Amino acid sequence: MDKKIVLTGDRPTGKLHIGHYVGSLSNRVKMQNQGLYEMYVMIADLQALTDNARDTEKVRNSVLQVALDYLAVGLDPEKTTIFIQSQIPALSELNMYYLNLVNVARLERNPTVKAEIKQKNFSRSIPAGFLTYPVSQAADITAFKANLIPVGDDQEPMIEQTREIVRSFNGAYGNVLVEPEGVFPPNGQGRIPGLDGNAKMSKSLGNTIYLSDDEDTLRKKVMSIYTDPEHIHIDSPGKVEGNIVFTYLDIFGKDKEKIQELKNHYKRGGLGDVTLKNYLFDVLNEVLLPIRTRREFYSKNPDAVYEMLKKGSEKANLKANKTLLEVKEAMGVNYFK
Ligand code: TRP
Repeated sequence: MDKKIVLTGDRPTGKLHIGHYVGSLSNRVKMQNQGLYEMYVMIADLQALTDNARDTEKVRNSVLQVALDYLAVGLDPEKTTIFIQSQIPALSELNMYYLNLVNVARLERNPTVKAEIKQKNFSRSIPAGFLTYPVSQAADITAFKANLIPVGDDQEPMIEQTREIVRSFNGAYGNVLVEPEGVFPPNGQGRIPGLDGNAKMSKSLGNTIYLSDDEDTLRKKVMSIYTDPEHIHIDSPGKVEGNIVFTYLDIFGKDKEKIQELKNHYKRGGLGDVTLKNYLFDVLNEVLLPIRTRREFYSKNPDAVYEMLKKGSEKANLKANKTLLEVKEAMGVNYFK
């Protein structure tokens, strides 16, 4: 039987953080190492440009940073084709055809896009490319005939919209495209809160821990985490619910018994925030140390990283061009023999 195809990616607008790690990177590495899938991971620079058209420098730099983050978490170019979206012309061509199968009202209803429009205060001056990026994402996914899309929970609407486009296309032109399915993070880890207690960890809110943070930075950030604002004296009882230190321990800690003990102690009183945070630092550092070490190794040789991306993009082009031909054939947009 043919292997199932996995396609996924990230917008390069900065470095990746531990939210990305639990939300999707760890699933991708796991799937890669199962050896059961044909794996593609894409750096979505075209999508990043939809709201950064005047900051191409940021996007360009972030492409390398995201590639380093991928290698650092253990994506292996021998097992996973890592490539750059803009270097695959077929994706833009497919996007042109699919744009005609979607209406503006449907795009405006996409919950993730809707939330972003609000967050970025776009209103009616939204770049057209931004409003339509879910269509471009459908092109990414269908170009590879991907079956499985490991992403964070916020990407569910993109996959739903892709499925609709696949159904419209196949209904209109014949069965060419494949309906994908999302692979989402384990329960409760889809959205990890920020250091400040904000529901979302995000670069724009400045409340993240990057995979690339060094030990000092990590320690400072851990010490700044929102705990229980009413827990002023070590001896008084503290709250565990809504306490971000415990949220992170639940996600990253392996020693569940010890964490339960700490929770009981904190609730009882007598466990200080600094002691607790020192433990969280150890837990996080154990996860991040190998990632940081690999990242430092690869960042010494950016030329090799670009070479890897070039090879990956060549491979991705072969696959996407094949689908594009089938699409044009099905639509009758093929004029010459
Ligand atoms: N939308 C994703 C993000 O916000 C990036 C992305 C672009 C993507 N194309 C994709 C993810 C295709 C999965 C599949 O980071």
